[in-house]
Amino acid sequence: MTLIDTDTELAPLEFAVTKNLAAKSPAQREEILADPGFGTSFTDHMVDICWSTRGGWHRPRVSPYGPITLDPAAAVLHYGQEIFEGIKAYRHADGSIHTFRPDQNARRLQRSARRLALPELPVAYFLQSLRELIAVDGDWVPSGADQSLYLRPFMFAKEAFLGVRPAHKVAYYLIASPAGAYFKGGAKPVSIWLSEDYARAGKGGTGAAKTGGNYAASLLPQSEAYENDCDQVVFLDQDRNVEELGGMNVVFVFKDGTLVTPQSESILEGITRDSILQLAEDRGHKVERRAVAFDEWRRGVASGDIVEVFACGTAAVVTPIGALKGRDFFDEQPSGTLALELREELTDIQYGRREDKHGWLVRLDA
Ligand code: PLP
Ligand code: COI
Repeated sequence: MTLIDTDTELAPLEFAVTKNLAAKSPAQREEILADPGFGTSFTDHMVDICWSTRGGWHRPRVSPYGPITLDPAAAVLHYGQEIFEGIKAYRHADGSIHTFRPDQNARRLQRSARRLALPELPVAYFLQSLRELIAVDGDWVPSGADQSLYLRPFMFAKEAFLGVRPAHKVAYYLIASPAGAYFKGGAKPVSIWLSEDYARAGKGGTGAAKTGGNYAASLLPQSEAYENDCDQVVFLDQDRNVEELGGMNVVFVFKDGTLVTPQSESILEGITRDSILQLAEDRGHKVERRAVAFDEWRRGVASGDIVEVFACGTAAVVTPIGALKGRDFFDEQPSGTLALELREELTDIQYGRREDKHGWLVRLDA
């Protein structure tokens, strides 16, 4: 099959669909959906599309979910040439299935691809992959409160070659995992550990790309956070400006109602954050994307200038930050109502309970 590889004149892909003959029974599925947790169970199918320098994107498939066979010399296993996305499918009261701003995830996957010297998956193929998976695994989208089907698109270098250069053979995959709350406490305030010794990203590095290496770099400091009874770790840059958490962006609410979020070329541009800030602007709040010195955070909380701090991301949605802990300090964080109001407004839109004024929802099952 010859495929056109631009975003403007794209013929849809023709996926070869192989049904999973060992798919979970409805009863087994319902048992999982009753309490899905986060990231532990997977649906019956997966999608993959191959890419090569010669053939472009080809061999689109929907197959039974299962292990991937890789050559031990596959470049991803040695040099970490990998990127991923995180996006959710939501079940509405009428049973329909929708996702949220998928064009933004598709574009971010393309930006990550550019930084990791991987091929850019056309936006249309990204969207089609979500639809193909929902077509076979739509029953896996849970309908409980705050539940969703977490979709995990990812791409990696599969060429068997130990020379260090961009791979000539790449695979794009999409898997899906039913999800409840990322944090055990749901929307209860979380505690944050300040990483003093480790950075997540540096200037000119890969911080703005959603690539596995950034998360690998966050694991040791994240373990330090757990050892100190904290839920997440916050990273600073070389100049002690606030960057982000291991897997979420951070937003500060000032007493005049302004929302401030760190702007830096080495943090991930969150789609949840962008949406929340838009909703806040719609309510008349001022929004600033700028450098935030760590001292400004601590001083702001001490003086009462900062009245709320929250984390946001696809997995975490919007979660208030209740405490900030470091090697030699413990700052309780002020609690307010805005974070939870914005969380409610956002999830109301995602679950179809409130008007989608910005046209953010895309229906996946029709
Ligand atoms: N920052 C990091 C490091 C993340 O992993 C995520 C989650 O994807 C975010 C921020 C928030 O991004 P989004 O809201 O697009 O999920
Ligand atoms: C997401 O929110 O999609 C992420 O990738 C973050 C991770 C904590 C699962």
